[in-house]
Amino acid sequence: MKAVIVCTSVSHGNTRRVADRMAEALGARVVSPEQADTAELADTDLVGFGSGIFYGRFHRRLTDFVKTLPGQRGRAFVFATSGLPEVPPAPFTRPLVLLLASKGFEVDGTFSCRAFDTWLPFKVVGGINKQRPNAGDLATARAFAERLRDGRGPVS
Ligand SMILES: Cc1cc2nc3c(=O)[nH]c(=O)nc-3n(C[C@H](O)[C@H](O)[C@H](O)COP(=O)(O)O)c2cc1C
Repeated sequence: MKAVIVCTSVSHGNTRRVADRMAEALGARVVSPEQADTAELADTDLVGFGSGIFYGRFHRRLTDFVKTLPGQRGRAFVFATSGLPEVPPAPFTRPLVLLLASKGFEVDGTFSCRAFDTWLPFKVVGGINKQRPNAGDLATARAFAERLRDGRGPVS
């Protein structure tokens, strides 16, 4: 199975750490949207898309890239790191899941975990979630990727 992970990680490298751990399980390459080859993605079985959450949204470099993709076939997954937890009725991941589905991807899973956050309100206290993603978060990320790799149904 060929897998590629497209990741924007600009703040602390938090999402990149998660992406790298998922990539180990998937034998995937991790690329930025700017490095991603659209033609290659069309020929890839499983594509992961992830970034930190900024003002409630995925990083614009990631979503702008997805918007440029032509119609696709194949499986995808979405992942995020954020300072605050997702609120179930309106998860951070949903808009990107819908965007990918509109491009023709079958979105098989979503993953998010808390991560070091120095966004302005938290900067004054030196940031929150200082040690995250931690070993447990990374192990969970890897297990998520393994379930996707093994085709064990939609995962989140
Ligand atoms: C300007 C800014 C805005 C942010 N907005 C949010 C937010 O709306 N919700 C949230 O949970 N975390 C927010 N965060 C925290 C980031 O999502 C978090 O630190 C993330 O892990 C960054 O990922 P990265 O290091 O891979 O870029 C924000 C951080 C910054 C710097």
